[in-house]
Amino acid sequence: MDKSLLARTAAAMVAKGKGILAADESSGTCETRFKTINTACTEENRRAYRGLLFTTPGAEQFISGVILYDETIRQKTNDGVLFADYLASKGILPGIKVDTGAKNLALCPGEKVTEGLDGLRERLAAYFKLGARFAKWRAVITIGEGIPSASCLQANAHALARYAALCQEASIVPMIEPEVLLEGEHSIERCEEASEAALRATYAALAAHQVSFEHTILKASMVVSGKSCARQAGVDEVAERTLRVLKRTVPAAQPGVVFLSGGQSDVAATAHLNAMAATPGLPWPLSFSYSRALQNPALNAWQGQSTNAGAAQRAFHHRARMNGLAAQGKWQAALEQQAA
Ligand code: 13P
Repeated sequence: MDKSLLARTAAAMVAKGKGILAADESSGTCETRFKTINTACTEENRRAYRGLLFTTPGAEQFISGVILYDETIRQKTNDGVLFADYLASKGILPGIKVDTGAKNLALCPGEKVTEGLDGLRERLAAYFKLGARFAKWRAVITIGEGIPSASCLQANAHALARYAALCQEASIVPMIEPEVLLEGEHSIERCEEASEAALRATYAALAAHQVSFEHTILKASMVVSGKSCARQAGVDEVAERTLRVLKRTVPAAQPGVVFLSGGQSDVAATAHLNAMAATPGLPWPLSFSYSRALQNPALNAWQGQSTNAGAAQRAFHHRARMNGLAAQGKWQAALEQQAA
């Protein structure tokens, strides 16, 4: 365990004005995304699409790290350079998704537990050799009638803590992601309660497993109204409730908090981050670790055609720049008009 490397990696992940591109969609999720643009989800198309994102000129000004999938970390650019090596040469940290997905939690209808601990020590050692310096594990918490249950919160927190300990042992910074899903009719008040409970359980488990908070990054969901809730909270309320929960539960020793976009619109994800990052006196830097909110415009511009690669890169560059500004509380809605 190289603590100095862990500290440098964690600090670089949340460097001023930079955030993370999540490009670790499983092949199944990729298929869902590619269907929206009528593009076949072949290995070559996944490589071509991700390659165009990674090779976007200037992306390194706003992107500190990229989360790769097992397939992606073994793929190469059009010029035959391994993606991980290419990213590192641009000063972007390669990361890797290491969980093997959320499965139904036994005896807990409607709830999930994330799997992937078996053999993880060996996989982490192999990923380190391939260049990965941080990892991601996503726990999924669903809000519904009588859920999340204590069993679900504890099972997921336990797995996150064991994953995080193994990562630190391997000198890989664990990105800890207890995602509270936004799907549902629930109010923002219920989302706040569930988010607080999930984070309390997560940090209790991390402490119990001797994980060093100084060498972790939290990937948090924002406190928002359920997608089908009649009352949709505004930007200021989302920011206020999310920060309240984080301040109550996340140790100041944590080097940074990055958010997932979770199905929010591109601009909403940017506006929410901006409102939070503009708040003075926070104990940790805030930034983004978006998949959909960074990629949607690029995917739509690409349409599976290599001739659209330039337009897709411009769309990605624009969203990355907007979110880089939002991470400093310097974004304004008017900037959205000046497409890159
Ligand atoms: P979204 O930003 O699309 O929610 O994806 C982020 C992510 O990596 C979820 O695990």
